[in-house]
Amino acid sequence: MTASQIQAPINVPTGPAGRAMAEPMSAEMLDLMEAHLNLERQSAADYLAAAIWFAERELTGFAEHLRDEAKQEEQHAAKFADYLISRGQRPVLDTIEPPRQQWTGVEQVIANVFRMESDVTASVLQLYGTAEKDIDRRSPAKCGAFYCTGVMASPDPERAKPSQELCSEPFTRCSPEPIGVCTRAV
Ligand SMILES: [Fe+2]
Repeated sequence: MTASQIQAPINVPTGPAGRAMAEPMSAEMLDLMEAHLNLERQSAADYLAAAIWFAERELTGFAEHLRDEAKQEEQHAAKFADYLISRGQRPVLDTIEPPRQQWTGVEQVIANVFRMESDVTASVLQLYGTAEKDIDRRSPAKCGAFYCTGVMASPDPERAKPSQELCSEPFTRCSPEPIGVCTRAV
C-alpha cells in the first residue's frame, strides 16, 4: 500500500440529519415512509376517539380494546421514526386531523376502524413495493418487522396474540424476528 493510499480519507455518506448512511433512501421512499408514519399517528387519534365513544356508553370492553389499539399505533409511528433516524433521515411530523367522534351506532364505529386499517395495510404494501422497486434491501425487512398486519386486531385473545404465524404474506418472509405487534383480521 502506498503512502498516498494510507493517507487517503475515507468518506462516509451522511443523511439530512448528519448521520452516516450505509445505503441511501430514495426521495419517493422517504416520502412514503413519512406519510406512513403520520398515518399511524392519525390512526392512533382515530382509535382513541372510538375508545372514547364506547367509554361514554359504558361499553368498557370495546373501549379498552380500542385504547390498546391506539397505543399500538403510537408505537408503530415511533418505530417508523426510529427507523428513519437509523437511515440518516430526519422524520417530519404532519398535522393530525381531528378524528370523527359522532356515530349512529357500534357498527359504524367498527366499519370506520375496518376502513382505517385497510388504508394502513395498503400503505404498508406500497412501502414494500417501493422498497423492492428501489432495490432498497433494508426497508422491506424493516417493514416486515414492523408489520404483520391484517385489517383489524381480533377480539379473540388467542387469535390476536403476537405471533409470526399469524402474519400475512409477503411479510412473513421479510424478517425472522417481529418487532411490532402481529394482528390479523377476524
Ligand atoms: Fe399501525
